[in-house]
Amino acid sequence: MKATATANSNTALVKYWGKYDEKLILPMNGSISLTVDKLSTATTVEFSKDYRQDAIELNGKTAEGREKERIAGHLDLIRKISKSREKARVVSKNNFLTAAGLASSASGFAALTVAACDAAGLDLDKKNLSIIARQGSGSSCRSIFGGYVEWVAAKTSEKSYAKQIADENHFDVRDIAVVVEAAKRRYTTRESMQASVKTSPYYGAWLKAAGSDLESMRKAVIGKDFTLAGRTAELNSLMMHATALTTTPTILNWSAATISIMHAVQDWRAEGLECYYTIDTGAHVHILSLPGNSKEIVKRVKLIEGVTDVIENRPGKGAEIVNEHLF
Ligand code: DP6
Repeated sequence: MKATATANSNTALVKYWGKYDEKLILPMNGSISLTVDKLSTATTVEFSKDYRQDAIELNGKTAEGREKERIAGHLDLIRKISKSREKARVVSKNNFLTAAGLASSASGFAALTVAACDAAGLDLDKKNLSIIARQGSGSSCRSIFGGYVEWVAAKTSEKSYAKQIADENHFDVRDIAVVVEAAKRRYTTRESMQASVKTSPYYGAWLKAAGSDLESMRKAVIGKDFTLAGRTAELNSLMMHATALTTTPTILNWSAATISIMHAVQDWRAEGLECYYTIDTGAHVHILSLPGNSKEIVKRVKLIEGVTDVIENRPGKGAEIVNEHLF
């Protein structure tokens, strides 16, 4: 009744922004991401009738409040599927402590799902694991798979799953995660996207753009067309942020360094150093490049004021069971 899993984070190339169903976490639009190789979570889950309540430890600290509720709620879902009532001990660690704020819910809920389902004795394929992970945190369903992954938008739970477009060996793109001194975040991602759907006058335009970006991105990934992938990802990120900025209340999590990086990427591109940026809900930036240009980009981006950490990622593998337990 004990299992450990690792999962990598993913960077959305066509973003998920808005829910059709808040409880089941069904997205308004489909999304495509790249699973990365250097931002990962390891999680051990043990179910036992000896445990009186769920005990959850994240990065050495006992989880409390909203964080604990979200994880215990996810364990409840897995207990319901496996028809068990046993409480669990969960120990989870990210390998990117210095880079707090980089999509930890994606790797976190993917690792939790894979470990907890295995510990509960469920034998599920990746599609069904993605459907369960999705209900913990939407973006985590994409981390079940490695490489380039699409999460399908649908109006029922069994039809909204993640699937691999191409594996991690198909197309070597670098995702340079640039961690910056972050601005204060006023709202969670969950609150932000909910408010965007309700109040942004651009939300309809976002859905239209996301639809055509999905087609371009599938084509770019399959055909290994970096220029098309980069252009589509950058514009898609800006469209998502245009929606966020025009939400009431405004969602603005960029810091001065975020904007400096956006300018720098444009300048470098004009010089012939091809790269593109994409930003999720925080202040941190992901710069996409081909392998031959990444060294130069890493060197340059480190010189920008407010940059605190730079992590160069390659396409990474999907979530998996491992033998070494955390307790
Ligand atoms: C901007 O998956 O963290 O990173 O489903 O509410 O847990 P919940 O949200 P989450 O949202 C990620 C939003 C995004 C875009 C993306 O990853 O596609």
